[in-house]
Amino acid sequence: MLKKKNSMTVPEFKKKFKNTGKKLVVVTAYDALFTKIVEQAGIEAILVGDSLGVVVQGKPNTLSVTMEDMLYHTRLVAQSAEHSLVIGDMPFMSYQVSVEEAVRNAGKFLQAGAGAIKLEGGSQVFDRVKAMTRFGIPVMAHIGMTPQSVNQYGGYKVRGKEKDQAQEMIEDAKALEAAGAFSLILEAVPASLAQTITKEISIPTIGIGAGPHCDGQVLVLYDLLGLFDDFLPKFVKPYAHLKADALQALRRYKEEVECGKFPTDSESYH
Ligand code: KIV
Repeated sequence: MLKKKNSMTVPEFKKKFKNTGKKLVVVTAYDALFTKIVEQAGIEAILVGDSLGVVVQGKPNTLSVTMEDMLYHTRLVAQSAEHSLVIGDMPFMSYQVSVEEAVRNAGKFLQAGAGAIKLEGGSQVFDRVKAMTRFGIPVMAHIGMTPQSVNQYGGYKVRGKEKDQAQEMIEDAKALEAAGAFSLILEAVPASLAQTITKEISIPTIGIGAGPHCDGQVLVLYDLLGLFDDFLPKFVKPYAHLKADALQALRRYKEEVECGKFPTDSESYH
């Protein structure tokens, strides 16, 4: 696929956002409409997250999201993105079984138009990250509270409060960088640990519930817009209340149709 005009590249990520004082802003998107809105807001990196399992598909977690689901949404986003780096999120069981399967599935995201992929995990994915980057597939790594391991963790809880766990995360971060990852998401970890990791590695860290010291931040789009309120983690700040606005609009529409106020002459053809 040809590089789109002015689109953000993987090498620019590090150059622009590591030790430059400029914060990297990432948000999720799953369709063409929101991709355009996100880009109009000047955001330069879009994650097609497997969070779509929860916010779009209405599932209780991300575990049932398939490669087919992810590739469909990645295509929608990639086709309408004009200047941002699109990162496709590898779903549960698309990279766990073998390095070979992981590389093959990662390649499908690039064929769908993504510029990079994201996967969850520390030491268990080093070999996957190494193999992917060797074959030209840029990898965003993701450690901390990794939602695909929710059953192992016994819920969505902060990770890295204990010394051993924190040390393991620092080592994982360094090893993921050495394996070739171009950036690292830190999810639900103490701010001080995120600060240490950010200082210790030379690739940009992107926090979600990891405090203010990361090189960038990521949020789920529907959370920050106040569209999805079934479950709101502590780290989410709703910047709008679109669910409330949508409810108000729909109630008014219903009321006006029912009482004959809509449509009027100006909404009718003559
Ligand atoms: O799936 C997702 O949207 C994510 C981010 C929130 C980090 O993994």
